[in-house]
Amino acid sequence: MQKETVTIRRLTGGCGAEVLGVDLASDLGNRQWDQVRQAFLDHGVIFFRDQQLTPEQHIAFARRWGNIDINKFFTAAPGYPEIAEVRKEKDQKTNIGGGWHTDHSYDAEPAMGSILLAREVPDEGGDTLFSNMYLAYDTLSDGLKRTLEGLRAIHSAAHVFGAKSAYKQGNDEHKKRFGNEDLAVGEVSHPVVINHPESRRKALYVNPGFTLRFDGWTADESKPLLDFLYRHAARPEFTCRFRWRPGSIAFWDNRSTWHYAANDYHGHDRLLHRITVAGTRLS
Ligand code: SIN
Repeated sequence: MQKETVTIRRLTGGCGAEVLGVDLASDLGNRQWDQVRQAFLDHGVIFFRDQQLTPEQHIAFARRWGNIDINKFFTAAPGYPEIAEVRKEKDQKTNIGGGWHTDHSYDAEPAMGSILLAREVPDEGGDTLFSNMYLAYDTLSDGLKRTLEGLRAIHSAAHVFGAKSAYKQGNDEHKKRFGNEDLAVGEVSHPVVINHPESRRKALYVNPGFTLRFDGWTADESKPLLDFLYRHAARPEFTCRFRWRPGSIAFWDNRSTWHYAANDYHGHDRLLHRITVAGTRLS
């Protein structure tokens, strides 16, 4: 039987919290639901252990948060278009998400969150790191905050999932993992500092994976300031690191965090199922 409340345990001072005492296969009570939602907003990423969800239960949990934003590029789990496979096989060298990024920032209405469920993980390695973009913004000087608040940045998927991307060129591993390269076109512009649509807190919204340049600036002009922001936003004090077990779930807020999948488990299989929950235009 579910308890009426859940226990929230922070992972680090930077971001992330474990949610204890909850079985996501059963319905959450209203109080539990409110606590989980608040923890998601407060900590940027929340973690659950030992959740043996079927794909249907995974989808049902995601739908409680919003519509599902089906990823155009990832291979789907067989029979479940809503579920993207994040897979690395024992004979593969590259992984998915092996650099700091924010899922779907290349969309005009970027995804609100991603719910990643571990199916098969190595005994050691394959952790995921997260970083807190509220803290990244809060700890900038007032002068730089003022400068950034007037700026927008251009994001794209073309250099990652497009036909000419590094992922596709000469990389047979990624050719198997991603499709629809013809849909990886175009650019979108988002504010560099967003007002989070739910918490109303300010967060830095550029990321090394998908941001190309500041809107109205060249890539060369943008690079020094973007590089500074990327170094700053990846400071260990803003981060946490999650060690997976089969049945673990990480649910992160794409508006207030970055994440990074560590690629340190060659010779072992790793398979996770990801569902992305739709978001709204950012302002
Ligand atoms: C991702 O970038 O969505 C995948 C993260 C992971 O595999 O840990």
